[in-house]
Order: sequence, then structure tokens, then C-alpha cells
Amino acid sequence: MDTDRLLQQLTDFLRIPSVSTLPAHSADCRAAAEWVAAELRRLGCREVQFLASGTHPVVWGVGPEVPGAPTLLLYGHYDVQPPDPLDEWTTPPFQPSVRDGRLFARGAADDKGQVFCLLKAIEAAGRPPVNFRFLIEGEEEYGSRVLFDLLRREPERTRADAVLIADMAYVAPGWPAVYTALRGLCYAEITVRSAKSDLHSGEFGGAAPNAHEELLRLLGRLKGPDGKINIPGLYAAVKRPTKAELTTWRRLPFSETQFLKQRVQAKALAGLKQYSVLERLWALPTFEIHGVLGGFTGEGAKTVIPAEATAKVSLRLVPNQKLKTVERQLAAAVKRLVPRHVQASVRFLHGADPAVVPVDHPAFRLLDRAFREVVGRGTVAVRAGGSIPVVPALGKSGAPVVLTGIGLPDDRLHAPNEKLDLKQLWDGIAVFKRFYELLGQKRTASS
Ligand code: BES
Ligand code: MN
Ligand code: MN
Repeated sequence: MDTDRLLQQLTDFLRIPSVSTLPAHSADCRAAAEWVAAELRRLGCREVQFLASGTHPVVWGVGPEVPGAPTLLLYGHYDVQPPDPLDEWTTPPFQPSVRDGRLFARGAADDKGQVFCLLKAIEAAGRPPVNFRFLIEGEEEYGSRVLFDLLRREPERTRADAVLIADMAYVAPGWPAVYTALRGLCYAEITVRSAKSDLHSGEFGGAAPNAHEELLRLLGRLKGPDGKINIPGLYAAVKRPTKAELTTWRRLPFSETQFLKQRVQAKALAGLKQYSVLERLWALPTFEIHGVLGGFTGEGAKTVIPAEATAKVSLRLVPNQKLKTVERQLAAAVKRLVPRHVQASVRFLHGADPAVVPVDHPAFRLLDRAFREVVGRGTVAVRAGGSIPVVPALGKSGAPVVLTGIGLPDDRLHAPNEKLDLKQLWDGIAVFKRFYELLGQKRTASS
């Protein structure tokens, strides 16, 4: 493998600041889509198109036709999360740099590095007998609405013998994983208004309501200090993981103490203490406050009673919960919890149903074998705490959705100093190369 050349190419991809949620980066998202399209053409794709290109385009590709060979759909995303806070990066997020065998850059692990890995494995396998299809989107980090709508209109795009997604991590170094569930997401802005306009806190303080105070009280009521979310009905659909799952989880190389000390790096963990940490991460819903806006937050001091305050919040949903139901439950809870003299509104920004992925299809055995041959251990079936909104839609046609990845738990996704271990990348290319070869040995009757 010409690792110098590959590293140079990945660096070019990572240099593009394709932050999908910030309108100022629209042109960069297009540039990243162009980068992907050029790679697909280099792989010999007969057809490379930008779909739904009114926004960040979905890159669609159809690989060289191999009659009788199975069809594999590769999904990934070229967009990334905002890189802030910038001053916490050792080297700038869009100037990829290697230190200690690790490549630091926004998108190194999530997901540009992994898309790169899937594509370069095709090259490494010397065009294996597989009919490749590609869906590489640019709005995953903002809820994938465009791809959602597209797949509703054109479900035939997902017709395949298998779907492969590399956008996750090993459970621990040396322990590759395959995922049986992803959490869903319900992202909302809660705004409270307490008066017609801002007021002088000397003239009115002590007698007038304060929007921030009302918002904070509301947020404090939505989740108690014990970690319990006070949204009526929210837990009704939540199912305990199966006995077999709980047993597997207990045997994973995962220590709650190490998780606290090395990964969370805080003084204590939070959440429902009666459940194990993995259960809290994988099998229970969450409520998080992402940011609070309004009032005076600039430099200096201003004595104001804010009339309006907004919180950006989200809930993670677990299997059997429904986004639509949770939206209704959140809106009702907010209405019930604010005092009558305060106006509250909830605006939903994006969301996704949770995904459940059975892993008994033969394709999973091929991935297991590929990992076993290359890294010396097969895949362990676990769940993920994160979300990939289109996963349920990608599986609708009945194809198995193989969710895996080459990241490591300490890659710092969405955070400063995101990285990808180069060893993981080189191994990953070998693993997927082997997976394509094994899949290529399966002739299908359908094609
Ligand atoms: N690759 C992640 C999802 C992920 C992360 C799965 C870690 C498993 C473990 C993906 O890019 C992501 O961050 N998704 C967003 C989706 C949201 C913005 C709709 C997420 O989970 O916050
Ligand atoms: Mn991702
Ligand atoms: Mn992400």
C-alpha cells in the first residue's frame, strides 16, 4: 500500500471545511462533494450524479457493471460538525497533521476518513466482482432531511444485496464491532417569553418576571438531578435490553471507572444510577441542553431583565420509541411545566427514529471473517449511542444494513482534536478489501 500517497489524498479531503450546518460553508460542502465525485469517477463509476443539489448535494454513483455479482450500497457522509472551540485544537481543524501515528483533523474519523477507507479498499481489491452503488451525503450532521426526502421519492436507490456503512468505532482497541441499534434524535429549540420587551433591572427588578429564570426553572424541571426525565409517557415505550445483550455488554472490555477517568474526564458520571453505564448510553433516552441564548452575554456588564430566552436541546431515543410521539410528549410537557404568565414555544429542528438492525444475514459473517483475518478478532455485536438518521430508510428495501467502523472510542468526534489512528485506517482498507472479495464470491440469482 502506498501510504504516503493515500495520506496525501485524505489530507486534501480533510482540508475542505465542509460544515453542513453553517450557511457560510455551502461552497465548501460542494467542494467536498466534488472531491467525492472525482474519486468515484476514478473508481470507474459509469454514473456519478449530484442529487437534490439545491442544498448540499447527495453524491450518487454506480460502479462498473458486473453481471451476476452481488450489489453493495456504500453509504457515508462528507459533511462535518463545526470545529469550535478553535483555541482548544493543538493544530487547526482543517490543517490535517500527523502526530504519533494519528491524523488530527475535523472529519478524520467522522466520517471523511472512513468514507476514504471504503473507497480506497475498492482500489486495493483491484475492482472486485461487486456491483457498487454509492450514496455519500452532505447533511448527515444536520439531520439528513434531503436524503430522507430523496429516498421517499426514489426508494429504488437503496435496492441492493447489502448496505455497508463505516461511520462508527471499535468497542475498544483490537475489538471491531457491528451495531444492532442506533439511538434516534429529537432536536428542538425551546423559547420562553416573559414580557413584551427587555426591562431595566433596577426599575423593575424584584417585581418583573425574567425569561432566563423561567427558562432555567423549566429546564431544571424537565430533568431532575437524579437523571430522570420528567416528560410524561417518555419511558413507556422503552424496553430493557435482552438478557443476552446484557451478558455480552458485561463481558466487553469496558470499565466504568476508566470511562469516567479517561474519556469523560470529569469528577463523576451522571444519569440513572440504577442502570449500568452502557445501558444509560445505549438503551435509555437522554435529555441534553446544548446551549442557552438570549439576554446579555457580551463582554462587560449590562443590567437587563431579558424578556426572551431560548434553549437548544435534544433527546436521544431508543428502540421502540417514535420521533413523532416524543415530539408531542416534549411539547406537552413544556406547556404543562411553564407558569401561566409565561409564553413557551417549541420548534423542532430535526430528528430521527431509532434504528434496529438484525445481524443474522450472511453478509455479517463475511464482515466478521474479514476482521478476523486482518486484525485477529471478529466483530462483537453491540449498540451505539449516536444516530445516523437515514439508517431505517436504507434498510427499507430489506437489504441487511451492515453498520461498522474503523474508529476508536477516543477519537473525540464532534470535539476539539478529533483524530484517526493511521493503523486503524490501513487495517480498515485491508478489512474492507477482504469483505468485498468475500462478497464477490457470492453469485446472486437476482441480478
Ligand atoms: N457518526 C455519527 C454517529 C455515531 C457516533 C454513531 C458515535 C455511533 C457512535 C454521526 O455522524 C453523528 O454524529 N450523527 C449525529 C446525527 C444528528 C446530528 C442527526 C448525532 O448522532 O448527533
Ligand atoms: Mn458520522
Ligand atoms: Mn457526526
